[in-house]
Amino acid sequence: MNDPFGTPDSVLVLGGTSDIARALVRRLVARGTKKVMLTGRDRARLDVVAAELRSDGADAVTSLEFDATDVAGAASIVDSAFAEAGRVDLIIVAVGLLVDDAQEERDPAKVAESIAVNFAWPAVALARVAEHLRSQGGGHAVVLSTVAAVRVRRANYVYGSAKAGLDEYARNLHQALAGSGAGITVVRPGFVHSKMTVGRPPPPMSTTPDAVAEDVVRGLERGAEVVWSPARLRLIFAVLRLLPEVLWRRLPM
Ligand SMILES: NC(=O)c1ccc[n+]([C@@H]2O[C@H](COP(=O)([O-])OP(=O)(O)OC[C@H]3O[C@@H](n4cnc5c(N)ncnc54)[C@H](OP(=O)(O)O)[C@@H]3O)[C@@H](O)[C@H]2O)c1
Repeated sequence: MNDPFGTPDSVLVLGGTSDIARALVRRLVARGTKKVMLTGRDRARLDVVAAELRSDGADAVTSLEFDATDVAGAASIVDSAFAEAGRVDLIIVAVGLLVDDAQEERDPAKVAESIAVNFAWPAVALARVAEHLRSQGGGHAVVLSTVAAVRVRRANYVYGSAKAGLDEYARNLHQALAGSGAGITVVRPGFVHSKMTVGRPPPPMSTTPDAVAEDVVRGLERGAEVVWSPARLRLIFAVLRLLPEVLWRRLPM
């Protein structure tokens, strides 16, 4: 891919069974992406996504297993993926975990898992991705952050804090990549109807994986560093992030 915001020839998905990533990759394949490398923790689920992409028209779909609790292994997963794929034009970082808040905050093992999956593993993987993009002289990464990272809430502060770390990390890594031909787009969806949110009551402005995928594609086309989905959340959070703490804590969210 010569134009970083055109259709990528080859895509690597870190978290290939994510509903949002799946919708995004299907959209890219419909636009001409031919080569997809999926990574994930569950072989059977990866096979389902791979079959779907092949039937959508992808020529080459391969997959690789990893577990994001193995933070020390993140760099070697990225190395293996680049070694197998050769050049990668677009990397989608979709791995993430949202568990029951009350259960998570009282269990140190759950806190460790959330920080690993939502921040540490993606951050280490991105550090390695950045090295590969520098060596190949270009390419782009899309990192799925969340509006919950913009101002962390009591209701899901373990997830929100981890995602806030990833959001800051990815935006600053984008700055660090200036002049290399590579870059990073951070995506901040609101509540998305995906397997992550099954059983949770949808707030106003909840959206779908397809709608997020469309917003990401449009964001890449215009060279956005941050994509909000839906877009109006940007204005809403411009106000919410400035709200005095005493008022923020009283909001029913
Ligand atoms: N859904 C929302 O409301 C929402 C809103 C804002 C941001 N996001 C972010 O968007 C991204 C995608 O979420 P989604 O909505 O598409 O949910 P999803 O379908 O549950 O995707 C989460 C992905 O993370 C993977 N994952 C979780 N723990 C893992 C582990 N230990 N090792 C390897 N992979 C692991 C999941 O694998 P399995 O399929 O094997 O579980 C899945 O591929 C996440 O980063 C999420 O934080 C979601």
